[in-house]
Amino acid sequence: MSHVLDGFSRTFSEYLLIPRLTKKIHMTSNVSLLAPVAKFKKGETSRLQLNLPVVSASMQAVSGVDMGVALARQGGAAFVFCSQTIEAQAAMISKIKLHKAGFVKSTLNVKPGATLRELLDLMRREGHSTVAVTSDGSPTGMFEGIITDNDFWEFEDDLSSIVSSHMTPKEKVIFGEIGIGLRSANELLHKHKKEALPILEKDGKLNSIVFKKDYVAHKNNPLELLDNEKRLVAAAGINTHDYEVRLPALMEAGVDIVAFDSSDGFSEYQRDAALWAREKYGDSIVIGAGNVVSAEGFRYLAEEAKVDFVKVGIGGGSICITREQKGIGRGQASALLDVVAERNRYLEETGIYIPICSDGGLANDTQIIIALAMGADFVMMGRYFAMSDESPTQKVTIKNSIFKPYWGEGSNRARNWQRYSEGKTVDGLLFEEGIDGYVPVIGPVKDMLSVTIGKLRSTMCNLGSLNLKEFTENAVLTLVSGQSIVEGGTSNIVQDESGSGVRT
Ligand code: IMP
Repeated sequence: MSHVLDGFSRTFSEYLLIPRLTKKIHMTSNVSLLAPVAKFKKGETSRLQLNLPVVSASMQAVSGVDMGVALARQGGAAFVFCSQTIEAQAAMISKIKLHKAGFVKSTLNVKPGATLRELLDLMRREGHSTVAVTSDGSPTGMFEGIITDNDFWEFEDDLSSIVSSHMTPKEKVIFGEIGIGLRSANELLHKHKKEALPILEKDGKLNSIVFKKDYVAHKNNPLELLDNEKRLVAAAGINTHDYEVRLPALMEAGVDIVAFDSSDGFSEYQRDAALWAREKYGDSIVIGAGNVVSAEGFRYLAEEAKVDFVKVGIGGGSICITREQKGIGRGQASALLDVVAERNRYLEETGIYIPICSDGGLANDTQIIIALAMGADFVMMGRYFAMSDESPTQKVTIKNSIFKPYWGEGSNRARNWQRYSEGKTVDGLLFEEGIDGYVPVIGPVKDMLSVTIGKLRSTMCNLGSLNLKEFTENAVLTLVSGQSIVEGGTSNIVQDESGSGVRT
């Protein structure tokens, strides 16, 4: 006979937090948002922690290179989507890792004999304005000079003229020699008022470039998430089909965190793949699995698959129609509370803490706060980041408002992409699990997060908490009736047009 769980399957919007004593020390500036990603022994520290408890979903419309850089700069991480070729995904991870090493491998180079037109095309395609000139146009060729968009005027200069007649030649370029420290390199940039400092090998070949903008970005983003070599932390989605080829390519590219991207992760496939990855790479990779919505799902992934963190959520995603299509899933709040309780039991039994990621269905900032209060260590979001400038999609105007497309990984659109890029026919989906639509454009990730995180810090102070662990321990939640939700809104107040544009 089937078994019916007690109680309803609940969502975040059905709960409110009760304030606790706020002491004078509970100021937002004192709040730490460090969040563990890798499992750790009680009393120890996780070998990888986020500086903000936020990651972006492994989705084509969400997590590419720009998101990887923007989110790591804010202290989180973007899970670069795996519904693309192995080479393309690994190239994205490489770009994120190369982006901010202080010493950046030069990705954009020309030969001295290239025309200005060729150079312009290159600059437009890659979005850079400073290009290193090397004898063979390679990133490590003999260094000949530097050319920037200030060295020529697109509409005045002859675009068929060659780069060497406009560039700053090596004799006039301030450069550093291999072995120079990052601090000294930045001092040279400062002293000579330069934007970029090429670093040359002893024999004159280009090694890397140090950019002023990276120094500025670093100073502006104190929570930047860096690896031991001061490179941005990069994350990627993987699947249970081609992991034996995909994971090595991602590791080669420098990936730090991977997570299986699946709507139902309570499977032997994930166990086998996770054990394979652990056997091959040990603790040099952080492995996440999921998604699950039950205590037994969590226990299986923790005990049998030995993963670092577990993702929770089936059917709550904004583009998700899994529940309607297949009848599986669970209200996200109930799923999270159940899994967190099991995680805590597991901690008591084994002394091992396994971080939990609440994935999908977070419709506003309040729900992010409630998820963290309920015990999620960090949250994963798709729609939220799809609305940012850094998502990899093009803006479109619909009825005078600006939108970006956003589609589920289980939609026909996501599958279509694979069909065309791999040059072979893939059978159409028997049924879709995701939809294809549009979301409004809000702005840069940094600005969006500053509002969201500002609210989170403030609520943490309301609950007398200086870190996320205390926040969960202090959290007292209450279920709200339909009428209290009405009461929580404004009442009997007329607002003008400007009051209607509030996002959350
Ligand atoms: P959102 O933040 O509510 O937009 O949800 C994003 C999450 O939805 C992702 O992290 C995935 O777990 C999930 N997801 C992505 N694509 C699909 C789909 O096509 N069907 C069902 N769930 C999806």
